[in-house]
Amino acid sequence: MFKTVRGMRDLMPVDAERMRHVEQVSREVSKLYGYEEIITPILESYDLLAAKTSEEIRERMYTFKDLGSRKVAMRPEFTASVARLVASKLRNEPKPMRLFSVGSLYRYDEPQYGRFREFWQSNYELFGSDRPEADAEILMLTNDLLKRLGLKNYRFKIGHTGILKGILDQEEMGEAKQNSVRQLLDKKSWEDALAVARDADVSQKCLAALERLFETRGEDAFKVLETVKETVSGYDGAVAAADNLWKILELVKDSGVKLEITVEAGFARGLEYYTGMIFESYVPALDVALGGGGRYDRLIQLFGGEPIPAVGVAQGIDRIVLALKKQKVSPKSGKEKSVVVISVKDESMGKALELSDMLRKSGLAVEVAVMGRSVSRALADADRRGVAYAVIVGPKELEEKKVVLKDMDKGEQKTVLISDLTEAIFSGSK
Ligand code: HAM
Repeated sequence: MFKTVRGMRDLMPVDAERMRHVEQVSREVSKLYGYEEIITPILESYDLLAAKTSEEIRERMYTFKDLGSRKVAMRPEFTASVARLVASKLRNEPKPMRLFSVGSLYRYDEPQYGRFREFWQSNYELFGSDRPEADAEILMLTNDLLKRLGLKNYRFKIGHTGILKGILDQEEMGEAKQNSVRQLLDKKSWEDALAVARDADVSQKCLAALERLFETRGEDAFKVLETVKETVSGYDGAVAAADNLWKILELVKDSGVKLEITVEAGFARGLEYYTGMIFESYVPALDVALGGGGRYDRLIQLFGGEPIPAVGVAQGIDRIVLALKKQKVSPKSGKEKSVVVISVKDESMGKALELSDMLRKSGLAVEVAVMGRSVSRALADADRRGVAYAVIVGPKELEEKKVVLKDMDKGEQKTVLISDLTEAIFSGSK
């Protein structure tokens, strides 16, 4: 007997429905905010996906040579593919450009709760604006999506890559070392991050500032940012970063949309392309992020395009489903008006198929009984699966251009004219 490959999952109807529901609401949100959908390939060149991602993701990519000896990999995220397009085919499109993608991604992570080797994201990228309102839009869009899905008690953790980078650049720490500091901070290994800085011979002032920053966090965003500015004074890049985050959060506040946030000065995300505001959304009951994003103003240039500022977010569909399940929030089932059409005899089967076609054209979900079972067994099966109405097509009724309509919930049945059938179902068969 074959099994799925370790880390790969089959999604059964209930879970598939939940996943598709989050996908559908994500798409609705993309339209409400003007993000146009693009579809990019799952397979990309390894070099594209490996550039400016993170050491961890690079190591965990599904990588192989195709039959033409090209080194390829299955995408671990959307951002590289979308940035490739913006640096090439979409280069001359007017800005701003808002792009939406949804689909499966692949990372050879250790399978555990909320961590899969194949998972799904809905991804939003906004190109062309380096202004704080673009960052604010990405935060508000994420909030809007989670709210529309009915999720409760979700929060945002927010930071700014420029705070740390402003300090370490001024201390002349090289990019590779800075990346390893960020990786350690991403894992909350503050002591180890300090050790890397110490080994790199940064100044005492820098070490003191880092130590204080790693402890600076809180729900009063502007108070936290005051402390940050005080801590990093003298490091101009870091001060500018704190000011930038201040402006973004002020815009969100002015919009009247209330976000539950914690600002964390020592917050870092693993990905190497971030240059500005970074954030993750989460629910306290789940200790993994539901989504994450941030600003990355230099990636398009790195891919050979013009310098184009960008900010975006990826929502983790699987984890949002887990959070909704934990909170017992279900998508509305589309089963209310489903119909089964049962033919009593083989000679009425043609008519049953014709009626099923007619009912579907009016928007009803219709199944035809295809197992050749008796009417009572076909009805029992429909009942088990929660079908709302049964249409029983028999030669006797057909002579009068009629069929039997059974309301499965009430258990009542009556004979109706075929010409009145659709109306009878829509009006609750009364
Ligand atoms: P990321 O933080 O690597 O960011 O992933 C975003 C979200 O994808 C996570 O918060 C999580 O919900 C989901 N995710 C990641 N790995 C797994 C996994 N192994 N199993 C289940 N879910 C997972 C990015 O991917 C960036 N491209 C986001 C971005 C877009 N930044 C700017 N634009």
